[in-house]
Amino acid sequence: MTRTLDVSRDLYTTAQRHLAGGVSSDARRMAGVPLYVDRAAGARLWDVDGNTYLDYVLGQGPALLGHCPPAVVEAITAQVSRGIVYSAQHAAEARVAERLCAMVPSAERVRFNTVGSEAVHAAWRLARGFTGQPKILKFEGHYHGWLDPVLYSVHPPLEAAGPADRPAAVPGTAGQPEAADLVVCPWNDIDALSRLMDEHAGQIAAVVTEPVLCNTGAIEPDPGYLQAVRELCDRHGSLLIFDEIITGFRLAPGGAQEYLGVSPDLSVFGKAMAGGMQVSALAGRAFVMDAISSGKVAHAGTFNSQPIGIAAAEATLRILDEQREEVYGTLYARGRELMRGLTEAAAKAGVPMLVDGPGPVFQTYFTEAPAVRNYRDFAATDRAMMGRLHAALLDQGVNMVPRGLWFLSTAHTEADIADTVEAFSAALNSL
Ligand SMILES: Cc1ncc(COP(=O)(O)O)c(C=O)c1O
Repeated sequence: MTRTLDVSRDLYTTAQRHLAGGVSSDARRMAGVPLYVDRAAGARLWDVDGNTYLDYVLGQGPALLGHCPPAVVEAITAQVSRGIVYSAQHAAEARVAERLCAMVPSAERVRFNTVGSEAVHAAWRLARGFTGQPKILKFEGHYHGWLDPVLYSVHPPLEAAGPADRPAAVPGTAGQPEAADLVVCPWNDIDALSRLMDEHAGQIAAVVTEPVLCNTGAIEPDPGYLQAVRELCDRHGSLLIFDEIITGFRLAPGGAQEYLGVSPDLSVFGKAMAGGMQVSALAGRAFVMDAISSGKVAHAGTFNSQPIGIAAAEATLRILDEQREEVYGTLYARGRELMRGLTEAAAKAGVPMLVDGPGPVFQTYFTEAPAVRNYRDFAATDRAMMGRLHAALLDQGVNMVPRGLWFLSTAHTEADIADTVEAFSAALNSL
């Protein structure tokens, strides 16, 4: 099947005259014509040329309940006529903070921001302000947003990445200053972490990790790994920060910290917490968050707890909390069914492919390796072929994240999963 993209192509050509590169985020660049969405509902997108897609991008994760879940649309609609922006306190922000603290194991206090990158920024500043230590330790392959202090060693070119057990801090873009007070460590390697923390003893304010790595494959921590990270942080007086921007509310009502049974000091949430609206949160232990409560560490933002986003978050979290069995039962069942279907389809086509991840989010890799455990393993998979599969899948009416990541929603039905597996087989055969 080949799509007609005449209207999309015309829009793209016109857009490039005034919109740099024709897109508003580099993550939306594509070989050929990028997706021009006309509307979205449930598990589907319709483009301006009338093509339909089963959507596994879901706005890069936020649409956990599918696109336009009725309860969220209703909450947004009801709020619009009562005010779009207050930049003042309102009752719903406290209710959402209370609900979030009840759902997330380590959350005792919350502050809201707008996007994930901002909440990460707040967490890193708070860690430094609270501990008085200058350095942050991050892991190679982990993404914490696009701001200057954090955009290091996400997917560095291997020739610049340094030794696997002691990676270099590689900037993600031109225009970024030299890394300052940043230590980069391989993930899923407790000996490397222990060594680096000893070398920087008394200087590391926080260790920050995606608790399940979702920006470089979908990689779960080795059994006991995050527990050992927690112990090292305690021994060194460093905070442990979980970046739950993807895993939060997706893997469990209490995020990856509930799913894995490891408690951070601080965590950040975004994406799935507001049904598609832009709300993020920094949450953590009261004794750490007190540095914000007291005004010692600054935290601000014109749009923080903007009432429409908070209304959407309130409606979303109520569903995730009160209907948890149904929501998470569906997400895991559909995810694992799709993982099984894709694995079988690849085996049938004779293509070496690994399908791995928790289920509500998972990754397809073209590799003969039995497992992918960190960035260097990921870099050894055939990423160019994954790019070709992405294009072939779009032609078959399936939209996955181009690097091979799949997000599930509660709106995906068993029939959608079966249709996706069929489309996937056709796409593989077309390569
Ligand atoms: C783990 C993680 N942290 C932070 C961010 C940044 O969030 P945002 O794009 O909302 O700024 C992302 C975005 O994809 C993410 O996946």
